[in-house]
Amino acid sequence: MAETILMNDNDVLLSIRDLSVTFHTDEGLVRAVNGVSYDVCAGKTLAVVGESGCGKSVTALSVLRLIPDPPGKIAGGEILFRGTDLVTADEKYMQSIRGNEIAMIFQEPMTSLNPVYTVGDQIVEAIEQHQDKKGPAAWSHAVEMLKQVGIADPEQRVMEYPHQMSGGMRQRVIIAMSLSCDPSLIIADEPTTALDVTIQAQILELLRDLQKKNNMSVVLITHDLGVVAENADDVVVMYASRIVETGDVAGIFDDPLHPYTQGLLRSLPRVGSVQERLEVIGGTVPDPLAFPDGCKFHPRCPIGSDEPRCMTVEPELREVKPGRCSACWYTPGYETKEEFELYETKYGKHKEISG
Ligand SMILES: Nc1ncnc2c1ncn2[C@@H]1O[C@H](COP(=O)(O)OP(=O)(O)OP(=O)(O)O)[C@@H](O)[C@H]1O
Ligand SMILES: [Mg+2]
Repeated sequence: MAETILMNDNDVLLSIRDLSVTFHTDEGLVRAVNGVSYDVCAGKTLAVVGESGCGKSVTALSVLRLIPDPPGKIAGGEILFRGTDLVTADEKYMQSIRGNEIAMIFQEPMTSLNPVYTVGDQIVEAIEQHQDKKGPAAWSHAVEMLKQVGIADPEQRVMEYPHQMSGGMRQRVIIAMSLSCDPSLIIADEPTTALDVTIQAQILELLRDLQKKNNMSVVLITHDLGVVAENADDVVVMYASRIVETGDVAGIFDDPLHPYTQGLLRSLPRVGSVQERLEVIGGTVPDPLAFPDGCKFHPRCPIGSDEPRCMTVEPELREVKPGRCSACWYTPGYETKEEFELYETKYGKHKEISG
C-alpha cells in the first residue's frame, strides 16, 4: 500500500494511516474519508486543502474521536499519536488527550464560546480541567494567555462576555483557550474563514509566532491556497474523500503534479499578473453517495475525462519522487513499466499531454 512519506519517521508526532470514515444516512452509505494517510511532524505545519465536502474536517474530527456515532463510524485505519492508536484508545485516554495534548480551533468562534459566561470563566474552566492550577492562579494564567494572543488590556477584557468582542478578538480568545494547556498539536479547521482579510492575516501570524515559541505542530485546514503558501511546511491535497497529492509547500506550488492541484493553482490570483478572469475547475464536486468509477476526478479532468483507464481504474497514492506523492496515472514516474505496457496492449498509445 502507498505510504505518505513526508519526513523522517522519528520526527512524526501524529500519523494517520489508511483512515476510512463512513456515515450511515437515510440516502445510503457516505464514504466521507477513504484510505487517508498523512504524517504531522513535530513543530511543523501541515496544510490540508481541497474543495468543500472532500473530507478535511471529518479526518480532523476523527483524530479527537469527535465524529458523531451514529451516523458516523471510523471504519478502518489507525491514528497514531506518539505511537498510541487513538482509534482504539479508551475514552479515559481520549479525555486526557483532548484539549491537553491536542487542541482544536473551529471556524466559527461564536459556536465555540458560551455566550452566558465571561471569556475569563471559560478560559479558567479549560485551565482547571486540564492543569493543576485552580482559583486565582488559574485566573492569572487566563489573563497571561490573553496577553500572549495580543489582547490589549487583558485584565479588563477577561471579564467581558463574547458578544462584547469583535470576531477577530473572539478568535484570539479561542486560540488563548486552546493554548492554555500547552498542547503539542493544534488542529485549526478554517480558523480565519469567517474573518476579514486583515484580521485573518493577524490571527495566522499570531498562530505562527506561538507555534514557534512553543514548538507546536499545526494541522491547518483551509481552502485558501494563499493561506497555505504563507503558513504551511507540508501540504496534503484532498479530493472526494481521498488524498490526491502530497508534498512540501514549495514543491506543491512550483511543481504541482496532480491535475486537480494544477487546477486549484490556476484559480489562485497571482501577484503582479493581470488576469482577465480566474480559471476555475469546471464541473462540480461529486456526490459522495454516487462517486464516479475510476479516478474520482476524471469527469472534471483535462486528461482523464475520456481516458478509458482513468474512467475505470482508481489510481492509488504513490510516491513518484522523493517526498512527493500523487494519485494520477499521468503523473510522470507514476506508472510501473508493466502498467505502461499493459496499458498500450489494452488501449493503444497513451495520451500526449502538453505542458
Ligand atoms: N454528520 C454527517 N452525516 C452525514 N454525512 C456527513 C456528516 N458529516 C460529514 N458528512 C459528509 O462527509 C463528507 C466530508 O465532509 P467534511 O465536513 O469532512 O468536508 P470538508 O472537506 O471539511 O468540507 P468544507 O470545506 O465544506 O468544510 C461530506 O460528503 C459530508 O457531507
Ligand atoms: Mg470542513
